[in-house]
Amino acid sequence: MQQGTVITFKTQFEEEVYNGLTTFPKHLSSKYFYDAIGDKLFQDIMQMPEYYLTDAEFEIFETHKQEITDFFSKTDTPFNLIELGAGDGKKTKLLLRQLMKKKEHFSYYPIDISQNVLDGLDDSLREELPKLTVVPEQGTYFEALERIDAKDKGRKVILFLGSNIGNLLHKQAIVFLSQVQALMRKGDLFFVGLDLKKNPQTILDAYNDPTGITAAFNKNVLTRINRELGGTFELDAFMHWEVYDPETGTAKSYLVSKKEQSVTIEALDLTIDFKPWETIHTEISQKYDDATVNWLAAQSGLQVIKRYTDANKLYANYVFEKSNNP
Ligand code: AVJ
Repeated sequence: MQQGTVITFKTQFEEEVYNGLTTFPKHLSSKYFYDAIGDKLFQDIMQMPEYYLTDAEFEIFETHKQEITDFFSKTDTPFNLIELGAGDGKKTKLLLRQLMKKKEHFSYYPIDISQNVLDGLDDSLREELPKLTVVPEQGTYFEALERIDAKDKGRKVILFLGSNIGNLLHKQAIVFLSQVQALMRKGDLFFVGLDLKKNPQTILDAYNDPTGITAAFNKNVLTRINRELGGTFELDAFMHWEVYDPETGTAKSYLVSKKEQSVTIEALDLTIDFKPWETIHTEISQKYDDATVNWLAAQSGLQVIKRYTDANKLYANYVFEKSNNP
């Protein structure tokens, strides 16, 4: 039986940092990369030549925007275009512009955890596509999706781009996909962007840029602990390390302690010891193949009805619908 004081946490961040750093092996969640600084670093990552994902998805949209948007409006019924994790909307704007050109009846619901990001997107859309109906929803993906579903039962086309689902282990991805599936009805579509398995070196390079932007992005979780929880992490005493397993398709990011050291976190009344070369696992970026995507879909009550890829076959967008035989 556990003895002593019960620890109470003021935020989920506190709780997850405590649990992640007092276990072995140590880990922290990549969702904490994203604050104002992290958002900016991720924007920089998307501009890097090594980070092929963004360009590949952009190429797919540019090449197939006609066909993709035809797919969205196929049944000629008005729809709600709902984007999970909208970000700056750079790629989505390609599709939005095409849909507006075709005078389709739809409203755009960008969902993001960051109000800051949503405000920026809303402003830019008002300017670039003044006739578009935009209804920003701040919150986590699923909570916001449920809110939209509760107030509007219209047909849904749900976008989940940028291989964002790759941050989830397959088991977690199935839970998430199943939750989305449960809110889908016949005629609804789920349009998902996924990074594909490829030359392992190409993947390592994408997460290991020579300028150190990815390293700074990875270390931003430590910066946040320092600033928000009164931590004493010495950023130079940790190195960013990326591994990729071509068998499972899993890329993993670590922060590796370069020496024996202790770090204190004031808000948690906690001292954490690191052995030389001890690791903190911070992120997974899963890569997929068709067999795995079909399996994930089947496990979640979905089926693939269409697939688009770029010329170099680095990346793919899949259209899912609710499975006929669950
Ligand atoms: C935004 C989760 C898709 O995993 O590729 C980029 C984040 N991490 N470089 C990814 C990321 C390191 C990115 N996702």
